[in-house]
Amino acid sequence: MKKSERGAYSRECRKSQDCLKKIEIKEIVSADAKTISQLKKFFPKWGKKGLAEKKLKKTLDGKNFRFAALLNGKLIAHVKITPKKDAHSHVAEVTSLFVLPKCRRAGVATKLILAAEKKMPKKIEILTLWADPKNGGAIKLYKKIGFKKYGFLKNASKKGKKYSDGCLLQKNI
Ligand SMILES: CC(C)(COP(=O)(O)OP(=O)(O)OC[C@H]1O[C@@H](n2cnc3c(N)ncnc32)[C@H](O)[C@@H]1OP(=O)(O)O)[C@@H](O)C(=O)NCCC(=O)NCCS
Repeated sequence: MKKSERGAYSRECRKSQDCLKKIEIKEIVSADAKTISQLKKFFPKWGKKGLAEKKLKKTLDGKNFRFAALLNGKLIAHVKITPKKDAHSHVAEVTSLFVLPKCRRAGVATKLILAAEKKMPKKIEILTLWADPKNGGAIKLYKKIGFKKYGFLKNASKKGKKYSDGCLLQKNI
């Protein structure tokens, strides 16, 4: 984190409810230049040619929902929720949860997920997600907001040749 950035969300501020109130949760509904450039900074891989636009097109086409937490207009956290299809269309998967490191442990992810949950269409009854069992902080967060473990998937994800297991969690909303 750059020294100049630290003042924006100081430790004292982070733990104050007043500061949490200043955080706005917005559904991403347009692929405007500002949103795209903020997401590219947030997810450096999105900087590849046309990738951000391609990903946002899926959101704008209604294939998934994306929510952003903004502090003074600046993107500080993101989550994606993707409904499943056909007989599983009452189930949606939560992925791509990320909070800027300098804004963590202040309730931002909690606020973001709970707000996103409320904005789900009525037909969505169950949220699912998987977390790396080594990611104890994330699992603690999910359990705190009502997710329950329903399984364990060996080799749940594969990046290159590296597999990671998955702790499977669900919440009835
Ligand atoms: C996991 C992550 C999303 C948490 O975001 P956050 O805004 O810091 O979470 P919150 O402040 O809402 O945390 C709520 C509670 O969850 C638990 N928690 C969250 N992060 C934790 C951590 N690193 N260690 C231990 N507990 C943690 C705590 O109980 C916390 O409450 P407390 O701060 O009063 O103790 C954030 O650390 C992150 O972006 N990590 C990298 C990406 C990632 O792992 N995403 C999840 C993939 S499954």
